[in-house]
Amino acid sequence: MANTNILGPARSRVDGPLKVTGRAKYAVEFEIPRCAHAWPVVSTISKGTITAMDTKAAESAPGVLKVLTHQNAPQPTEASGGGGAARSEGIRIEERNPLSDDKVHYAGQFIALVVAQTLEQARYAASLVKVNYAPEAPLLDMAAARKESEKPKKNNDENVQPKKGDVEPALANHILLGVRQTYSTPTETHNPIEMSGIIAAWEGDRKLTVWNATQFVKGVQSILARTYGLDLENVRVICPFVGGAFGCKGALWPHELLAVMAAKAAGVPVKFHLPRREMFTTTGHRTPTVQEISLAATSKGKLQAIKHVSHTAGAFVGDWVESCGARSSAVMYASEAIKVEETVYPLNVAIPTFMRAPGECPGVYALECALDELSYVLSMDPVEVRLANHADDHPLKGVPFSAKHLKEAYQVGAEKFGWSKRNPRPDTMRDGDLKVGWGMATATYPAHKMSAAAKATLFADGRAVVQCATHDLGTGAYTAFTQISSEQLGVPYEKVTFELGKSDFPFGPVAGGSNSTGTVGTAIHDAAQMLHRALAELAVDDAQSPLHRAKVNDIAMIAPGRLGLKKDPNKSDNFTDILKRAGKNAIAVQSKMEEPEEDKKHAFQSWGAHFCEVKIDPLVPRVQVTRVVTVINCGRVVTAKLARSQIIGGVVMGIGMALHEATEYDPKTGMPVNPNLAEYHVPTNADIPEIDVHFVGEPDFAFNPIGARGIGEIGITGIAAAVANAVYHATGKRIRDLPITPDKLL
Ligand code: MOS
Repeated sequence: MANTNILGPARSRVDGPLKVTGRAKYAVEFEIPRCAHAWPVVSTISKGTITAMDTKAAESAPGVLKVLTHQNAPQPTEASGGGGAARSEGIRIEERNPLSDDKVHYAGQFIALVVAQTLEQARYAASLVKVNYAPEAPLLDMAAARKESEKPKKNNDENVQPKKGDVEPALANHILLGVRQTYSTPTETHNPIEMSGIIAAWEGDRKLTVWNATQFVKGVQSILARTYGLDLENVRVICPFVGGAFGCKGALWPHELLAVMAAKAAGVPVKFHLPRREMFTTTGHRTPTVQEISLAATSKGKLQAIKHVSHTAGAFVGDWVESCGARSSAVMYASEAIKVEETVYPLNVAIPTFMRAPGECPGVYALECALDELSYVLSMDPVEVRLANHADDHPLKGVPFSAKHLKEAYQVGAEKFGWSKRNPRPDTMRDGDLKVGWGMATATYPAHKMSAAAKATLFADGRAVVQCATHDLGTGAYTAFTQISSEQLGVPYEKVTFELGKSDFPFGPVAGGSNSTGTVGTAIHDAAQMLHRALAELAVDDAQSPLHRAKVNDIAMIAPGRLGLKKDPNKSDNFTDILKRAGKNAIAVQSKMEEPEEDKKHAFQSWGAHFCEVKIDPLVPRVQVTRVVTVINCGRVVTAKLARSQIIGGVVMGIGMALHEATEYDPKTGMPVNPNLAEYHVPTNADIPEIDVHFVGEPDFAFNPIGARGIGEIGITGIAAAVANAVYHATGKRIRDLPITPDKLL
């Protein structure tokens, strides 16, 4: 049944008790008999050839079962083993198979894997492997890679270089007011608390089971089956819990192939839990960006041109395009002319990947800082500048956005924050000795839709079990899907069990792009419709049912647990009575996986507004974020409490981006120099104030039958700009290079 409330109930996590008592089993916590342990050897140069490897000492070290190198690793049957043509067949970002030859393309690349009975034995033996290289001159920064740079046309079928009209006349027009600035962001690393890890166990040569921390069990199953020439049903992927991912577990990475290879070579199950250090090189990161923004506006603040030119890093082991701007600057404001351009510079650095709002996160940061700069040029309030350029229609497609409530988000945010009390002049507001700054920014993220199927089983005792090979990354997906199942099936919340994280279940897509709630929710909706139909078919054949001899098409769920005639709800029957009278213990249906329908009349995008306060001691200019109000318009919110947590998580990560996070590389070796949680600073409690989250709008039923557009990523977009804009307002200093560390404010 369609639920028209925007806010669903404030459920606590159904998996909360399992997590707080330690009973929730993460991939590498499964106890597999005879399981051996792996430790990697990684390259210490960033480009070159391995000329010699001496593994003798390692091989004779205590407990060692196998030392894999490019010289002896059993290579997969399929040389490429890449992601399929379709995303549903799995994702490879690093496309080169590990240990496939003697070449080194980045520092930290796996060049050997030691398998031993214990982790300590494997780690010690790995330290005994001796490697000689013939190094070559690497490309370690974008400036050095200019000759190799490319302007990609597409990224996931989407135009990377979108354009509307001609921006140049407006940018050259001296009557218009403008901003031309360059903003830069560093490499950032995801750093989920659970490091990536896998246990691989072969049964003979034809059957493989992996317990694997992943955002895509079906994708891993598909790639492993193709790579090793196995039947799909003979590859099982199990992943009931994920301890955070943020995109770094979306693709299949080299460690997963290595563990599978090693288990084959060693003849025992192998566990390969990545050390934190390797999380900085072998499972992707957010690419660094340099972004040039040019704006031209009338004196009333109407944008005449937006030009967003990005430079981002790629790699030599696969393709990565960050798409800064294509789905943010190109769609956010109603400008006469828009141009988004991106150039990718391949480096001898580990390959980037999806990281929470890939593209939109750095892109919105740059544009929203530039708009703040424009507001001072125009002497207009930053909110007013945005309202003056509000886009009712998608600027490129020319169709209206569905259920867009961005104006309301600005209004509610400004009210809750107290924005009207802001002194517009920078470096004027004080709290004792501290400088106070107030900044704001828009948030946005596209609404993505994929395909999924769900199986629903209803039992005569009133319980229901719903299954889909989807994922809970720590986001609350178990709870949201239990809630959706309860509403759609018409079964009380307490009686629904939702199961995920197993490749045996019907197809679930990658838990990425904030798509899961809507996509899997739609599959649950479809399964519920099928279940109600199957029950109706039983009822019309049942002489004892009030629905006897009615037409199945005239029957619908009229209340939770009850089917009745649409036109005469007095004639009704309940689910469990129908089942019991039919002598059935249970009834099961499985929805079909269908390509999502395309609605050409609407554009779908989520929106929000961040308002942020910072306080800065002028003597030691460390920025403290003291208040954040975030208002989000994302269609229906399935479970209010967990949705709020998701947005808080995005804001926290964005504060990290604004003030702390950067992966630094040794300019000589190309190796990360801060690959640990001590030196890569993610926000701690002391860095984070109360974050006040609100939701506005309406369920977006034009988008899907759940009305939900997803919330995983939008929270991080724009918040770094809101912080940077607040820092400018506090100090009069515009820092355009993240993170805003104290040295930059001195
Ligand atoms: Mo998200 S970066 O799409 O896992």
